[in-house]
Amino acid sequence: MGRSTGKKLPLLAVLLAVLLLLPSAAMAAVAKTIDASRSQHLDLPDVLVGPESVAFDAHGGGPYVSISDGRVLKYGGEVDGWSTFAYSPSYAKNGCDAFSELPSVATESSCGRPLGLRFHNKSGNLYVADAYMGLMRVGPNGGEAKVLVKEAGGTPLRFTNGVDIDQVTGNVYFTDSSTTYTRAQHQMVTTTGDSTGRIMRYDPKTKRVTVLQSGVTYPNGIAISADRTHLIVALTGPCKLMRYWIRGPKANTSEIFADLPGYPDNVRPDGKGGYWVALHREKYELPFGLDRHLVAIRIGAEGEKLQEMKGPKDVRPTEAVEREDGKIYLGSVELSYVSIVNP
Ligand SMILES: *[C@@H]1O[C@H](CO)[C@@H](O)[C@H](O)[C@H]1NC(C)=O
Ligand SMILES: *[C@@H]1O[C@H](CO)[C@@H](O)[C@H](O)[C@H]1NC(C)=O
Repeated sequence: MGRSTGKKLPLLAVLLAVLLLLPSAAMAAVAKTIDASRSQHLDLPDVLVGPESVAFDAHGGGPYVSISDGRVLKYGGEVDGWSTFAYSPSYAKNGCDAFSELPSVATESSCGRPLGLRFHNKSGNLYVADAYMGLMRVGPNGGEAKVLVKEAGGTPLRFTNGVDIDQVTGNVYFTDSSTTYTRAQHQMVTTTGDSTGRIMRYDPKTKRVTVLQSGVTYPNGIAISADRTHLIVALTGPCKLMRYWIRGPKANTSEIFADLPGYPDNVRPDGKGGYWVALHREKYELPFGLDRHLVAIRIGAEGEKLQEMKGPKDVRPTEAVEREDGKIYLGSVELSYVSIVNP
């Protein structure tokens, strides 16, 4: 399939053009679209894939990435390269270091599949949302992580996914995408419209976990607002962002924050009061046509669409992290590298 198909079927070409233009037409074009195809690749070591989440420690060290064989790796710069930083107790117990070359679907339920990563700056602790193990934490020197939360409100976590931290209180906010389906069955969460996802808080002082909202449709990434009054949660199937208030008069309530032109994964603050939302796929994406699609969108503090990032169709990022120097790091569950986009 390619451009010649368009020539033979002009109607289809018109339809395609309309569909491709729809999402951007609905956006007040404020900032220039970023082209992610001009990016630098930070390759993982041989055979390793799927750096889903990208994190930096309080000293700017990293990136740290969560990969498909169950480990969290740390990049120590050009000379040191990548090294193992953390893993679950099950990874160690099951001798998973022998299985790095097996496809992850064969190993992830016993070796773990870390997804969201976030450091608590003051303590240096890294919190890990592991799809199979639950919420875990590891100290600043890494090693075997401790499982903190495996169930909430009497129901086991089944698909732990996104995590963020209130850097002042140390409270940890995280999502369980479904209590029905595991990560390996993530397509089912979308196709069935499963609405058994939950948003939770873990208080490290009391070690208590609280379910803030249940019955949520595919909650995925989560980020606390710059003023710490609310959480922004990506709802993958519905292509929306939800706002959940944790402080103020609307505390304990939620509302839709933004409609998205694609299926969101992780949400990360952009350092300017807004967020970068990684998009796995456009909402109306066709399997043929131009080899470019939306890979991320920048959303403002009030839910307004500020900027798009486009890239090749084989790039389907799971996280976009903007650093103080303006570089944007893209994580992915499929690729064998982290992309660094320098807009
Ligand atoms: C925590 O550290 C990260 C990574 O260096 C930094 O971007 C962020 O601004 C820090 N947050 C706070 C609240 O100090
Ligand atoms: C929110 O819920 C908490 C805990 O259930 C409660 O203490 C607090 O008063 C509630 N806040 C509001 C504004 O309803």
